[in-house]
Amino acid sequence: MSYPYQIKSYEQYQKDYQRSIEDPADFWSEIAQHFTWKKKWHTTLNWNFKEPKVEWFKGAKLNITENCLDRFLEKSGDIPAIIWEPNDPEEHHRILTYKKLYEKVCQFAHVLKNNGIKKGDRVCIYMGMIPELAIAVLACARIGAIHSVIFGGFSAQSISDRLFDAQAEFIVTCDGAYRGQKDIPLKSVIDDALIGNRTVKKVIVSTRTRTAVSMIKGRDVWWEDEIKKVETMGLTDFPAEEMDAEDPLFILYTSGSTGKPKGVVHSCAGYMIYANYTFINVFQYQPGDIHFCTADIGWITGHSYILYGPLSAGATTLMFEGVPTWPDAGRFWDIVDKYRVNILYTAPTAIRSLMGFGLGPVHGHDLSSLKVLGTVGEPINEEAWHWYNEHIGKKKCPIVDTWWQTETGGILISNLAGITPAKASWATLPLPGVQPILVDDQGHEIVEKEDGLYKGNLCIKHPWPATIRTTYGDHERCRTNYFATYENLYFTGDGALKDENGFYRITGRVDDVLNVSGHRIGTAEVENAINMHSGVVESAVVGYPHDIKGQGIYAYVIYQGSHQQNSHGTADLIRKDILQTVTRIIGAIAKPDKIQFVSGLPKTRSGKIMRRILRKIAEGEIDNLGDTTTLLDPNVVDEIKNGKL
Ligand code: WT7
Repeated sequence: MSYPYQIKSYEQYQKDYQRSIEDPADFWSEIAQHFTWKKKWHTTLNWNFKEPKVEWFKGAKLNITENCLDRFLEKSGDIPAIIWEPNDPEEHHRILTYKKLYEKVCQFAHVLKNNGIKKGDRVCIYMGMIPELAIAVLACARIGAIHSVIFGGFSAQSISDRLFDAQAEFIVTCDGAYRGQKDIPLKSVIDDALIGNRTVKKVIVSTRTRTAVSMIKGRDVWWEDEIKKVETMGLTDFPAEEMDAEDPLFILYTSGSTGKPKGVVHSCAGYMIYANYTFINVFQYQPGDIHFCTADIGWITGHSYILYGPLSAGATTLMFEGVPTWPDAGRFWDIVDKYRVNILYTAPTAIRSLMGFGLGPVHGHDLSSLKVLGTVGEPINEEAWHWYNEHIGKKKCPIVDTWWQTETGGILISNLAGITPAKASWATLPLPGVQPILVDDQGHEIVEKEDGLYKGNLCIKHPWPATIRTTYGDHERCRTNYFATYENLYFTGDGALKDENGFYRITGRVDDVLNVSGHRIGTAEVENAINMHSGVVESAVVGYPHDIKGQGIYAYVIYQGSHQQNSHGTADLIRKDILQTVTRIIGAIAKPDKIQFVSGLPKTRSGKIMRRILRKIAEGEIDNLGDTTTLLDPNVVDEIKNGKL
């Protein structure tokens, strides 16, 4: 197998890029010829960013799983599709060849059907990183059900909100999940999420930890029992549902600047082509390579670069259940050594955390199989970049710094491994089909350099195949969030710099969204959760630089009465109580790192919180707060400065 649209040289990149912007429809329709269609499209692209409307390959019929499984069965059915490494290195790993994965997906598609699930239904998937998660996702796609995977770190309340928003009728989960030393009781979280829920009809439970679980008659069924029924009927194939190119493939919830997560919707055809194209080109995958993306499938990175990108390329993808630091901080290097991994794709936060353990855990592992390294999720600082380059890549592996978002479905700005130049902490060049533009707050293109660089808000001018199609159940929200800030542009929410070569460096969010360990967290969501805690009068949440997480969460909280001497205990205890509330409402990933009790917040005369000031204080820039004369009560600033944690 070879990839006719794999870019092989810098010159070819430049040529392809040029072609892709001169005639995007023609460019993508040529690439799309290399996929399996049940019916070809009549219109390659139809769009306007006003509504917004983005339609690619209109009229085409397909099923993404035929492109990820069926088309490889004959020639490469016996090559590994998924290599699964368990949490505990003592436990045996599993290998699913394309043939095996196909069978399992078809069987589980029958299970879904037998349980009343059909095309268009929303299925919530809340599982640990086991092969059954991949099987569940693909089986949904096979029957045309819309999957919505929820990361295992979200709380019952978050799940409940998402179930309601998606009007989901079905759930696939596990009894529990292993993560390092922890055993997370997933089914029990689901049970809490289902209290009072009236839409969910069936919960399918896969066995992993064999933690005791409650199984409600008529609602809850065991994965294994259901599979047995299918096996006794001798069913091994499942005809792939015929999907329209623009039918939704999945929903993935993500945070924004409002208090409520948005259900980002991706389509079947455009998403497939873009995930595949970017996987093959950015990582320069060669048949036989082992690709190890360390993300969780609960995030977009796992969707696109553990599952759909690699599988649609007939690649071998490695799926890891555990965490980078258990049983020790050499776990990634152990896996690279054990499976002769060729491509390693991880997050700057993981690199920084592993750096902290020194070189001891790296030594003694043979990393010579590595050819390409990648990072994603947040800007990578130069120190981490150099450590990754020297100690992991041994200076012979190109590092791809891939910038993209849940909404973009795949990588938009990145160097191509070994093909286009890398530059430490720069994402560099746009991929073919991607037309970035930097604008000022009024939406005018930045044409003047500042200290030798263009600096502005990062927008995209033209749709690429995996553009967000809508936010589930609320198209207007999609418009106002992404397409209304600047006319005729998709606004990313990120700020960026551009140099004279056209290289981009993403500097971080310009909205009220935090990036904590590569996870996107809306400050408004955290504030809502804190404010739900009894005794909290008001709160304001900002980010601050954190050595390992990139950004930490800093919360300023007004607590009723005096938090120092309170009938509920000491300030420390109240802090713990508040953390508990945030864990209940959102999940442990949103817990503030610091909580400072204050008697007031800096507000303008119209009552708006001056976050700029709070951010500066949290960042430690106490002497450089700028103009505070417009504040209602300038005295609170001194109090807050003095109480800084
Ligand atoms: C936000 C998107 C895309 C998968 C992981 C996160 C930040 C992402 C980079 C990068 C600098 C990056 C941006 C973006 N981001 N990659 N290479 N350099 N920043 O997906 O949760 O949708 O978050 O992550 O701020 O907007 P997400």
